[in-house]
Amino acid sequence: MSKIKITFQPSGKSVLIPKGISIKDAAKIVDIIIDSPCGGIGKCGKCKVRVIKGTTKPSSFEKKCISNEDIKNGIRLACQTKVSEEMIVNIPDKLDVDLKKMLLSEVKSVKSQKYSDKFGVAIDIGTTTIVGVLVDLTTNDTISVAAKDNPQYEHGADVISRINYSINNQNGTKKLQNYIVTAINSIIKRFVKNTGIHSGQIRKMTIAGNTTMQHLFMGINPEKLAIAPYKPTVKGLYDSVNSFEIGIDIDKNAEIYIIPNISGWIGGDTLSMIFALGFDKSDKIKLAIDIGTNGEIVLGSKERILVTSTAAGPCFEGVNISCGMRASKGAIESVYFTDEGVYCNVIGNVTAKGLCGSGMIDAMAELLKYKIIDDTGRFRNYKELKKELSPVLLDSVIEDNKRIKFLVYKNSAHNIFITQQDIREFQLAKAAICAGIKLLVNELGITVEDIDEVLLAGTFGNYIDKSNAQKVGLIPSVSLEKVKYVGNAACDGARLALVSQKVRNEMEENIKTIEHINLISQKDFQKTFVGAIYFPNK
Ligand code: FES
Repeated sequence: MSKIKITFQPSGKSVLIPKGISIKDAAKIVDIIIDSPCGGIGKCGKCKVRVIKGTTKPSSFEKKCISNEDIKNGIRLACQTKVSEEMIVNIPDKLDVDLKKMLLSEVKSVKSQKYSDKFGVAIDIGTTTIVGVLVDLTTNDTISVAAKDNPQYEHGADVISRINYSINNQNGTKKLQNYIVTAINSIIKRFVKNTGIHSGQIRKMTIAGNTTMQHLFMGINPEKLAIAPYKPTVKGLYDSVNSFEIGIDIDKNAEIYIIPNISGWIGGDTLSMIFALGFDKSDKIKLAIDIGTNGEIVLGSKERILVTSTAAGPCFEGVNISCGMRASKGAIESVYFTDEGVYCNVIGNVTAKGLCGSGMIDAMAELLKYKIIDDTGRFRNYKELKKELSPVLLDSVIEDNKRIKFLVYKNSAHNIFITQQDIREFQLAKAAICAGIKLLVNELGITVEDIDEVLLAGTFGNYIDKSNAQKVGLIPSVSLEKVKYVGNAACDGARLALVSQKVRNEMEENIKTIEHINLISQKDFQKTFVGAIYFPNK
């Protein structure tokens, strides 16, 4: 079969491929991973590339999610465009998540200190990012922290896409396992390079992650997690494994401890968070929220601990948002309005390319504050806004075909808007978290005022403006002093389990009493969820 040459810019890499392969798959052959939040099934419209040479006819889906002008300029979706003749394709900056932000409690690596010869690594396998912490097991000091994108992202932003990949592809589970193992090995390589230790000196590892990620790490098909009653193949404690069996490049006899899961949708990462934040020993009532594609919520004290997980969806990662993107270079991470205009902070101080989750929260709070949208989330009438807004702010309110959208950022390459549909997507995501919190509060028989601490965990939680998160109704309206950022609590818990057998024993004991509240089976779920779609009206 004759082959066609495709060349990728700016790397200059090229490959000969058979006709009919998608640009996304061709790129993968030369190790270029194109951001594919929907896993390449033509749903998200995010895998945009520019075809510089070669003709392709845009599909109806491409016509829907790419402007006419961009189509004329060669913009196409990499997963939808099949290569049929010689092509040159420009790939915009590939996934470049601000890894510093993933590390949260970044520790400087120090070479040639007097370390002992026994080290351990605690790993948090997030659906988006994998974080590792290197610990000296003699002193229990943290020596280095490193993070890496979860390479499975190529097969979708959320766990359902990964499960589907695992089910629908030959050796799908094995392939996804390899992705995680390779990423962890590269984190270990970084530790070795940064500290001068030998990988064989790493004698222990703990793994936290949601149940799907933990199953995949173990090479267990997670298909049961996608079908009611969502029972995991392994519930609670996993079999012990050693590094050699899994293929992790550390001491070949090193024990790998997987933090037990609580249920199909509540994994070892949540159990780790519970321990890191001391729920099991606390007299105070704490609420911990890890906002991600799945929002994990924990409420309680040593008396009773409730957990749930809500399907917030990948909106906070920028998916399904017209100008949305992940928190990487070029993402608007915070926004504020004044009568003089709209001001944005852009990650990396470069020209903005899109809006990430924290920027979305700020923008929604400001749209509400300036009454540009009402508490149902609807843009108010242009005529009304004309009377109330300053001329500069009014310039950002764009009426297009009788529909209003809001211009957050303007530049010569492309403008960044918030549309009515974006607001609806945001409302659904925040309502999922908000309804989860409300139902746990009801189940515990308390009111929001009884909560002593609201703890924001995880990468996203640590970069949101807590006051704006309250204004949009994402987190409860308690006194702001009660709201604290707690870093990567899942990784902190995995670290505790790494250095303490007592903590492991307590974890194994506690999974018997922690109560998983399944939101869908709560009779008030639908009503609470619908009510939470509105923005608070004060
Ligand atoms: S549309 Fe191509 S990855 Fe989603």
